[in-house]
Amino acid sequence: MLTATRPQFTINRIGKHLGAEISGIDLSQELDDDTFARVAEAFFDNEVVFFRNQKLTPAQQVAFTRRFGILEQHVRKESRLAGHPEILIVSNLLDDKGNAIGSQDAGRFWHSDLSYKAEPSMLSALYSVEVPIKDGRILGDTSFASTTAAYAALPEATKQRLQGLKNVHSYRYYRNKNARAQEEELARGGRVIQEHMPTEEQLKTVPDVETPVVRTHPVTKRKGLFLNEAHTSGIAGMPKAEGDALLAELYAHIIKPEFVYCHQWQAGDLLMWDNCAAQHKATFDYDLPQRRLMYRTTVRGTAPF
Ligand code: SIN
Repeated sequence: MLTATRPQFTINRIGKHLGAEISGIDLSQELDDDTFARVAEAFFDNEVVFFRNQKLTPAQQVAFTRRFGILEQHVRKESRLAGHPEILIVSNLLDDKGNAIGSQDAGRFWHSDLSYKAEPSMLSALYSVEVPIKDGRILGDTSFASTTAAYAALPEATKQRLQGLKNVHSYRYYRNKNARAQEEELARGGRVIQEHMPTEEQLKTVPDVETPVVRTHPVTKRKGLFLNEAHTSGIAGMPKAEGDALLAELYAHIIKPEFVYCHQWQAGDLLMWDNCAAQHKATFDYDLPQRRLMYRTTVRGTAPF
């Protein structure tokens, strides 16, 4: 019989607007309801939280994150972990035929996960199995930016301008942008990424969606900017040049250093981010033989309002 544990834990805020370490919790154990509720509260308050030194099986990661809601299965079937379709492998490792074992390019651009879905992801959890290290230096950091703090800091006139605007989130746009980035990397003499590009059939399952530019968080009710350079193809109903100029201005604002927390990984970290309140971006400053292996679970959210 499983006994739920009731640990005391501490929360240590690290970033100015987001990012906190939670210590004193072993996520391989089932948490009692009260502890889970306090963890969830800390998570929504801090937008990004992490737990160091975890030893999680894929099933334990799935069980913990499933307590937040329904888990997604990523549109790229080839990058799902065998036996655990809710886990997306994020890795630079190759199988013995030289093919990527998972998604190698996740996080190339600032984004929030699955923002191109009608019900975009509420939160994601990334568990680090292997972290790249070169000459004693840890590589492959992930940066997070608070879109709620960024919104709060906007001038009143900009907030007025954004009211009622919608933006188009498109997985097809992302696929094309990503393909171009890969070609450019190749042209610069970079390495070939044996990536599974989504097929036309897979793309059809995720048609473009329009969402409010200013989104109200379903739990905290904070307002935040819900647009991102990976998936937003434009501002709905606005001439392209004008929309692109507005987007560029907002993207630059969101990633101002005061809104950003940069996470340096250790193997055994379980880090969760709130996709309704933060965006993230990976750092590709490593290459084989430096190995990076992460498992991601993603909890379904609700339609943005
Ligand atoms: C992601 O964008 O989901 C992954 C980020 C990372 O690998 O650092």
